[in-house]
Parts: sequence; C-alpha cells; structure tokens
Amino acid sequence: MLNVAVANLSFAYDETPILAGVDMQVEAGSFVCLLGQSGCGKSTLLRLLAGLEKPSAGQIRVEGRPIAGPGLERGVVFQDYGLFPWMSASENIAIALKQKFKTLNAAERRALARERLAEVELPSASFDKFPGQLSGGMRQRCAIARAFAIDPPILLMDEPFAALDAVTRARLQELVIALWRKDARRRKTVFFVTHDVDEALTLATDIYVLGQSPGRIVHRHSFGRDKVLGRDAFRGDPGLFALRSQLIGIINEEVSAFRILDGGLAREAAE
Ligand SMILES: Nc1ncnc2c1ncn2[C@@H]1O[C@H](COP(=O)(O)OP(=O)(O)O)[C@@H](O)[C@H]1O
Ligand SMILES: [Mg+2]
Repeated sequence: MLNVAVANLSFAYDETPILAGVDMQVEAGSFVCLLGQSGCGKSTLLRLLAGLEKPSAGQIRVEGRPIAGPGLERGVVFQDYGLFPWMSASENIAIALKQKFKTLNAAERRALARERLAEVELPSASFDKFPGQLSGGMRQRCAIARAFAIDPPILLMDEPFAALDAVTRARLQELVIALWRKDARRRKTVFFVTHDVDEALTLATDIYVLGQSPGRIVHRHSFGRDKVLGRDAFRGDPGLFALRSQLIGIINEEVSAFRILDGGLAREAAE
C-alpha cells in the first residue's frame, strides 16, 4: 500500500497551461475517482501520475519519493485496452508476468496467466483468442487481468469502461471493486478517471472534481471508511442522491463558465 502526494502540480504541453496548482493527498489504499468534463486534463493528470509526462512545476511523490518516469509499482489500464493485438489473451498476461516475476518459467507463466483470466471470468474458450476476436468487454477484462496480474500497489485507470454498454460496464465496475477489495490488508491505491458522476459515486472512496482551463481541483469529497462500494452504494447511503446533484451542479457550473469563441473554448471574462 502506497500513499501519493500531488503538490502544486502544473503542466503544459505547449504555451497553454493544462493543469495549474493541483494538490492531492491520497492515503494508501484509497479508491480515488477523478471526475471532470472532457478536455479538463484528467488523462494528462493520469499520464503525469504514470510518469509518462514530467510536471512543469510541482511534484508527485509516492511514499515521499518524487516519481521519475514510469515504474512497475504503478500499473495502467486505458480505455483502448492497450493489449498487444498479435498476442492471444493469455500471451498478453504471460508477457506482463515475465516482466514482473523473473523467476517464473514459461510453463508457470502460462498457467498463472490462465488463472488470472479465469479470475476475471473470461470464458476459457477465449484464452487463446486474439484481442481482435474478443468483444470490448472481454478485452477490458483481459486488460484488468493483466493489471492485477502484475499486482502494482498503485493502479491508474483512464475511463476504462467509457466505450462499453451499460450492463457490461456495471459488471466490470463490480469486478474491479471485488479485485480491489480482496486483498484487504494491502489494497491498491487506485486513480480512476471518469466523466460519469454515477460511476464515481459507485466506485470511489474519494472523489476529486477537476475544473477546466486550466485544470485544477474544484471540489473534493471523501467518504468514510464505511462507504459501501459498488451497485449497493446508493442503497447504503440516501445522502448520495444529494451529493450526486451537488457534483452535477459543480460540473455544469464549470462548463457554463465557458463559451464558444472562434470555434474554440474560452473562459468568460471574470466579472
Ligand atoms: N499531446 C498533447 N499536446 C498538446 N495538447 C494536448 C495533448 N494531449 C492533450 N492535450 C490538450 O490538453 C487538454 C486536456 O486533455 P486531456 O488530459 O486529454 O483531457 P481529458 O482526459 O480530461 O478529456 C485538452 O485541451 C487537450 O487538447
Ligand atoms: Mg481523457
């Protein structure tokens, strides 16, 4: 279990600032949902956490140590699955295992890969199929299996279910919660990006709302340790409906502070 501190983080790809002064103190074992409108900088923040981009200012620390590039302690699941198309589902897992567990031989890796795929309830008939032969939901199960097979203490997920239908999406949300919950004493610290308020309410122990232009934290909500995760979240806490309206309000307020200008988005002059 690793804690993550984002301190006064700013970032720009070019002269336009994308993130400005982002601060987050994330306790080890939290399930953080980063919520915000499209284009506000969620993926950029995740890429910085992954070490794929370097901050223009500020720092990200894991257990007090500044991150310097990608690391095996931080696993990533993206919306587009990131599977190797020329490898079968089980080969995709096996190659990830090879990277992480140097002592396993090929037969052991193959066996463990199949175990991992079974754990995410992928039908065994699809273990030897290529990603292109699998449905979106199956591919994302495979990507999740791979992320959990490497067993990183920190897991970064960028809208992993955005392209899936509602039923598949709900099932995969439950799957991720079950996998996260299983290892109660060394729970992964998860950063899960979504633009869907209900998804954030379902999954998160902590919600951070990102505003836009530049991206910054405009709201934070921390649920207590007793938060019911998953589909039952709404049943467990009637107050969640009020929070839902509040979050939708905050996001809409952010959006209405923009207007279309010359085909681009520009912030209304502050009155
Ligand atoms: N490689 C890049 N070069 C320049 N600008 C980028 C690049 N990637 C993203 N952006 C810009 O950064 C902003 C935030 O993008 P992104 O982090 O993808 O937002 P989100 O994930 O919240 O939709 C957008 O305005 C986008 O156009
Ligand atoms: Mg994005």
